[in-house]
Amino acid sequence: MTQETALLPKSPVAGEEHVPARKVFVKTYGCQMNVYDSDRMSDALTRDGYVATDVMEDADFVLLNTCHIREKAAEKVYSELGRLRELKKAKASAGREMVIGVAGCVAQAEGNEILRRAPAVDLVIGPQTYHRLPEALKRARNGERVVETDYAIEDKFEHLPAPDRAKTRLRGVTAFLTVQEGCDKFCTFCVVPYTRGSEVSRPVAQIVAEAEKLVDGGVREITLLGQNVNAWHATGPDGRDWGLGDLLRRLGEIDGLARLRYTTSHPRDMDESLIEAHRSMAKLMPYLHLPVQSGSDRILKAMNRRHTAAEYLALVERIRTVQPDLALSGDFIVGFPGETDQDFEDTMRLVEAVGYAQAFSFKYSSRPGTPGADLKDQVPEDVKAKRLERLQTLLFKQQRDFAAACVGREIDLLLEKPGRMPGQLVGRSPWLQPVNVDAKRSQIGDIIQVRITKAGPNSLFAELIE
Ligand code: SAH
Ligand code: SF4
Ligand code: F3S
Repeated sequence: MTQETALLPKSPVAGEEHVPARKVFVKTYGCQMNVYDSDRMSDALTRDGYVATDVMEDADFVLLNTCHIREKAAEKVYSELGRLRELKKAKASAGREMVIGVAGCVAQAEGNEILRRAPAVDLVIGPQTYHRLPEALKRARNGERVVETDYAIEDKFEHLPAPDRAKTRLRGVTAFLTVQEGCDKFCTFCVVPYTRGSEVSRPVAQIVAEAEKLVDGGVREITLLGQNVNAWHATGPDGRDWGLGDLLRRLGEIDGLARLRYTTSHPRDMDESLIEAHRSMAKLMPYLHLPVQSGSDRILKAMNRRHTAAEYLALVERIRTVQPDLALSGDFIVGFPGETDQDFEDTMRLVEAVGYAQAFSFKYSSRPGTPGADLKDQVPEDVKAKRLERLQTLLFKQQRDFAAACVGREIDLLLEKPGRMPGQLVGRSPWLQPVNVDAKRSQIGDIIQVRITKAGPNSLFAELIE
C-alpha cells in the first residue's frame, strides 16, 4: 500500500498572509500505523506554520514515511530518494531550499546508513521520536544532518498534538487511532520488533480523549491500531487490568461514534473478553484480521508463531460461534526457509478450511538481522512465485465468493466519500468492502440501509432501501 497524503489545510492561517507558509509533502508507505503517524507528524508541524501540499515540487520539506517489512518496500525508498536528489538540486539552483526527511521503519532500522547511501537526506527520524520532529527540522534547516533514532523516555503521545476539529473534518468520517505500538513476539521473519520497539499500550484516558476529539470532528468509525492490537492492556478507571475487549466497550459508550474496528490481532492474544465483545457490541464490526502466515505446524514453529494450525482453526470456530456473521481476513507468507511442498499444501488446506473474505499474501523476504535470514534451506524464488500464485488464486476466489454471497443482503452502509460516477457515494460494508450507491454529497457520514445488488471484482453495488 502506497499513499500520498495531503494532510494539512491548504491555506495559511488567517492574519499571517504576509509570511509565505512553508510547505510540507508527506509520502506514506507501509501499514495503517504509518498513515496515522503521517497525520500526527503533520499536525506537529502546523505549529511552526507548515501547510500541506500534494505537489512534491512545491514542498520546502519532503518527508518519506517508510516501511521496512520486505526488501522491496525498503528499496522503493532509495529509488524515491534518488529522484528527490535531482529535484533538490534543481530547486537549489533556483535559489530555493528543500529539506528531505526519512521517517518510519527504514529510518529506525538503518539510521546513519541512510545518510551514507543517500547524500541528499537531511533528516532521519524513527517512529519513537516523532514528537521531536519540529525541533529536528529546525536543526536540519540550519545545515545539520540529523539522526533521531533513540528510544525516547518521554511518552511521544503526550507530546504530539491531537488533530484539531478542522483537520479532522478534512480527513473524513473514518479514522485510525493507535492504541498499542511495538511487538514482543519476535516471529523469526519479521523486522517489526526491531523497528517499532517493545510493546507499549497507551493509557485508557488518553485513548478515550483522542476518540472523543475525533468524534467531535465528525468521525463516525474508528479503527484501533496496534502491531499486536489485541495485546493492548492498561489499568482501567475501575483499577482492574483492562484488555482490548474492555477498551472497545468503553469506546462504544461515546455518543456519535457508530462503528469500531481493530487491527492487527495475533491469534495468541484473542481472549474471551474480546471474543465476547463480538457477540454483545453492535458497534463492533463483524470483521477480524487474524494473520496465520502458514498452515504447517513445522513452519509455524520455525516462524515462532507459538500456536498450531489446529489451535488457529479452533479459535476461528470459537469466534464464529459467538459471531456467525464474522468475515475473516489473514496474512500469509509462502517460501519461509525450509518450507516443503507438503508444508505449502497444509497452508492451502487451512485456507480451504477457514474461507477468507479478504487476505494478503507474500513471498518470504529475507530481512537482515532477523533469525530467519540465517536459516539454511532458503526456498528458490521460482518456487516461491509458483506457490504464491496458487495461494492467491484460491484466496481471490474466496474473496469473490464472499462478495457474491453478499448480493441480496440488506446492510448498514457508512457513506464515506464521492464515488467514481457522478451522483454516487462510496462507503464500507460491515465487512470492509467498498460499496457504491446513488446518494447526495450531503449524506457523507450518514449510515443508510441498502440492499446489495451486484458484486464487482473490487467493490459492491447497492440500492437504497426505501
Ligand atoms: N503484527 C502482524 C503483522 C505485521 S507485518 C502479525 O503479527 O500478524 C504484516 C504482514 O507482513 C505479516 O503478517 C506477514 O504476513 C508479512 N511479513 C512480515 N515480514 C515478512 C517477510 N520477512 N517476508 C514476507 N512477508 C512478511
Ligand atoms: Fe512481526 Fe510477529 Fe510481531 Fe506480527 S507478531 S509484528 S509478524 S514479530
Ligand atoms: Fe512497515 Fe513498519 Fe508498518 S515495517 S508494515 S511501516 S510497522
